[in-house]
Formats: sequence, C-alpha cells, structure tokens
Amino acid sequence: MTFEELQRRLAEVPARHKEISVIASLDDEPALPSARLLDIALRAASAAREIALSVYDGRPSSEPHWFDTWPGAHYRLLAALVRTLKPMRVVEIGTFTGMGTLALAQELPAGGSVTTFDLHSWHGFEQTWLAPGDFEQGRVRQVLHDISAPGGIEAHRALFEAADLVFVDGPKDGHTEARMLDNLATLSLPAHALVVFDDIRVMNMVATWRRIARPKLDLTSFGHWSGTGLIDWNA
Ligand SMILES: C[S@@+](CC[C@H](N)C(=O)[O-])C[C@H]1O[C@@H](n2cnc3c(N)ncnc32)[C@H](O)[C@@H]1O
Repeated sequence: MTFEELQRRLAEVPARHKEISVIASLDDEPALPSARLLDIALRAASAAREIALSVYDGRPSSEPHWFDTWPGAHYRLLAALVRTLKPMRVVEIGTFTGMGTLALAQELPAGGSVTTFDLHSWHGFEQTWLAPGDFEQGRVRQVLHDISAPGGIEAHRALFEAADLVFVDGPKDGHTEARMLDNLATLSLPAHALVVFDDIRVMNMVATWRRIARPKLDLTSFGHWSGTGLIDWNA
C-alpha cells in the first residue's frame, strides 16, 4: 500500500480511534538521507550517550525530567547536535518551558547564540526552566512572533539565513508545522543548514514529514518518542 492510500484509509477511521500509530513502508518515500546526514546522526547519537545535561541543575521547574530517561526525549540529542556541529547561530521555533532552549544553549561554542521563537513569553509558562540570567549575555534570546503566518518569517529572514541549525518544535496541530516549513522554503538557508523536526511520528504530523522532499532521516530512537527527524535542507 502506498502512503497516500494509507492516508485515505486513515481518514475513514472514526475519531474515537484517532490515537493511532502507523508503520509505513518507505518504498514510496523519495527523500533518502544524505551521506552527511547519516554521518551527523551517528556522531550525534554517540555524543548523546556521553552528554551530561548540567544546564538544568538547580533550576526550580516542577516539570518532569524528560531528559533523564534515555534517550532523554530530544534534549540529549539537541545538545549532542550542537556539540557535534558547533553551530554559531541556532534557531528554535517553540520555546515553551525552555527545556529545548537550554539543551541547545549548553553546548554552544564561544560566541554562539540561540534565538528561540514563541507566541508567548517564556516567563508566562509556570514550569519554565528559564531564568532572567539566561538572557543577560545575549547567548539566548527570545522573540515573540508567529513563524507560521503567511510571510511571517520574512521579518526574520536575515536571522534564519544565517542559521546553522534550526529546531522546529511547534504545536503539532496538523497544519502549523507545515506552514512553518512552507515559510522556511521561501528563504535561502545556508548550504550546510540542518533542520531538526520534532513530533514526526504524531499521527497528524506523519503526512507533513512524508511530504518533505529533501534528504532526511528519522532519528526517533535517539530523540523524542513522538518522533525526531533531521533534514539536510540544501543537500
Ligand atoms: C512543544 S512546545 C516547544 C517545546 C520546546 N521546544 C522543548 O523542546 O521543550 C511548542 C511551543 O510552540 C509554540 N508555538 C505554537 N505556534 C507557534 C508559532 N506559530 N510560532 C512560534 N511558536 C509557536 C507554543 O506556544 C509552544 O510553546
């Protein structure tokens, strides 16, 4: 069965059964991982085993320590990707409680920065891991902006076009991330830009992930149980 046929059948499943997973053959998936992606994945997965996420130590959030249980949702992998790739400019879409922001920030090289976008300010989230001190040196910066709106990325074109690593982690509502990808595609990301895409195995995100026609790799076993994908954006 092709993925398109599968989608048609799933559309007929009653709403009460919608919390379903899918195992789909990659026979009709044209976007294979590049050699570079495989290399990055192997190096980052190896680094993730060793990384200690001390960045969370002593922070008062009451949120569960997802990062402690291997593979640590995507947090160990995010830190490992930064350690491996040494990106100077990192962009995260979706700050929420800052767990991802801090994992990215921990391994930044000297002079590097993380800009994290959200619709809501970090201090509005009761369980935030972030503190005012995180923003004092300019290594971490939050921008409140809707990155999914038509043309919504344009105001930040220069930032994205200088980004070495982009982490897309939105609301997984079935359409916002697709719009974010459409907006990203209007830009000229650097030739080496790596895009990390969260939640690719959530049922309403599977089609969005499958539609990406760039070299990509499902790295879920080393990332978030909800699905973590890597995209070699310009390969
Ligand atoms: C799943 S959470 C992010 C989790 C975080 N990246 C982490 O690793 O722990 C998703 C966040 O995306 C934000 N968001 C939703 N739609 C957005 C949009 N259009 N532009 C920017 N952020 C958005 C939500 O407010 C929410 O805080």
